[in-house]
Amino acid sequence: MEIRTQMYEGKAKQVLATDQPDQVVVRFKDAATAFDGKKKGTIANKGVYNLKISAFFFRMLEKEGIPTHYIETLSDRDLLARKLDIVPVEVVVRNIAAGSLAKRLGLEEGVPMAIPILEFYYKDDALGDPMINHYHIRAMNMASDEVVAEMEQYALQVNDILTRFLQTKHIQLVDFKLEFGLHQGKVYLGDEISPDTCRFWDTETREKMDKDRFRRDLGKVEEAYAEVLKRIEGE
Ligand code: C5P
Repeated sequence: MEIRTQMYEGKAKQVLATDQPDQVVVRFKDAATAFDGKKKGTIANKGVYNLKISAFFFRMLEKEGIPTHYIETLSDRDLLARKLDIVPVEVVVRNIAAGSLAKRLGLEEGVPMAIPILEFYYKDDALGDPMINHYHIRAMNMASDEVVAEMEQYALQVNDILTRFLQTKHIQLVDFKLEFGLHQGKVYLGDEISPDTCRFWDTETREKMDKDRFRRDLGKVEEAYAEVLKRIEGE
């Protein structure tokens, strides 16, 4: 496998073409942004931690029957993945009130939800990823009803699998964001699953172990990413 030209550069990752038309290399960067790109910075070694954490979760989810874009880890920062036609919809699942949900509904951060909440956001940086529902997705031809139903089912399954696993590591899965795409007509989980895209709280101390440390200038950001990796890989 040979890496060719860059196809796309996002805020935290690059996507590079390979000599295989249906495979891409996803390269994880240390660059960090928040608040629709208004806050910019670097988290030392973030790319290395996020790749390892994502690869760990993708392998775990594959074993549980969730199709993911992950093929293999090529190096510290490069992951080989199936090339997806990304559905421009971010799927957020929430177990505990935090972030934009707490703000929008006037909830105190940390209040548990009676059932997991599933939300959709239109993936558009210029618009600040506005929240949408099934009607917008169909009306704007973002995805078919069948694809949306599969994304919902997978997202809730991912929530169950990761919540159960992380509990054994004394981590609460507060909320997270997933992205999906199509590959040869089938729905796959794409993007990453990391402290950039999830809220992880220590079960006992409720200390934040995710990108909120960067967003809110809480310090010890790299340490938090390292601790998540250490806990999930630990026996
Ligand atoms: O900001 P908000 O509370 O809506 O975020 C919910 C979850 O989705 C958080 O875990 C956050 O890290 C993730 N998210 C993301 N990318 C976005 C928006 C949210 O990874 N563009």
